[in-house]
Amino acid sequence: MPSTRRHFGETPEGHAVHLHVLTNDSGMEAAVMDYGAILVSLKAPDSEGRVGEVTLGFDRIEGYLGQHPYFGATVGRYANRIGGARFLLDGKEVRLAANNGPNHLHGGVRGFDRVLWEAEDFEEDGSAGVRLRRLSPDGEEGYPGNLDVAVTYALTDLDELRIDFEATSDEPTPVNLTNHTYFNLRGTGDILDHVVQIPASRYTPVDEGLIPTGEIAPVQGTPLDFTAPHAVRERIAAVPGGGYDHNFVLDKKPGCLACAARVEEPEGGRVLEVLTTEPGAQFYTGNFLDGTLVGRDGQRYGRHAGFCVEPQRFPDSPNQPGFPDCVLRPGGVYLHTIVFRFAVL
Ligand code: GLA
Repeated sequence: MPSTRRHFGETPEGHAVHLHVLTNDSGMEAAVMDYGAILVSLKAPDSEGRVGEVTLGFDRIEGYLGQHPYFGATVGRYANRIGGARFLLDGKEVRLAANNGPNHLHGGVRGFDRVLWEAEDFEEDGSAGVRLRRLSPDGEEGYPGNLDVAVTYALTDLDELRIDFEATSDEPTPVNLTNHTYFNLRGTGDILDHVVQIPASRYTPVDEGLIPTGEIAPVQGTPLDFTAPHAVRERIAAVPGGGYDHNFVLDKKPGCLACAARVEEPEGGRVLEVLTTEPGAQFYTGNFLDGTLVGRDGQRYGRHAGFCVEPQRFPDSPNQPGFPDCVLRPGGVYLHTIVFRFAVL
């Protein structure tokens, strides 16, 4: 099915912003915005065949231009936190924008979610898609090297939204690109009754600032053990910090596309499987949502109104010699694929 393009508003600098709407045969619909390469909306059928919204977001561009916690965003150049907003790269100190206390979060003050991308619609093998590109200049938010980045969204007739990230650089730089969609598979209320399974027997513990300590610890015997399915509600009260916000070390081979999480919503029967080629995934239960943000259809997003599964290289890897390497070098190519696969119970 083809994609369509419609005007969504303007940036503060007066540049036109468009939504690219992808549809498939079962009625799924994904709307991707060229500002921030953001997934603005995703609709999927429930077990009765009713197609409904499954993400948190805004009806209007103004919501995305204001403060919001990365709804649907493409996050980069480095997703999640870098401790002290600094690191050593080949023996030289690199200083980044600090936008989360003393730390760097999700690419800095003006990350990849707050810039306009160049978009091109396409149709390929039964999928409608949009490819977004930009050049992140040397020094942006403190990062070294010009980074040529592409993010491709494609909606398939297998009810999968596939996101492919690709990047090359003319200087060594850390790269960690992800998508920060908040899902609510019921479309309303909170996600506490969603049933979650995460194939990860280990996680990366953090300090009070949510910076990894460098340890890789077992989940066994903790509320983070989702190797068997559990409703979010069951053990969330026992998680310090008001809910889940942890990087899971996935039990999979590096580089291969495999499951990061499977989430079921028992009432409407929607099932989401998140697949990734990356070694980790942040499971976040919207702990910082506090009801002040008014989103789509006038909904107020309170605590746990949505959950995120953010596939990623481990947080703070530039400062953690024990974690998988995250540095892209000239001549190399950074590749990451995420699949959001929908089904019903
Ligand atoms: C990620 C982080 C959280 C929080 C959200 C955005 O999931 O891990 O701590 O910063 O993004 O609010």
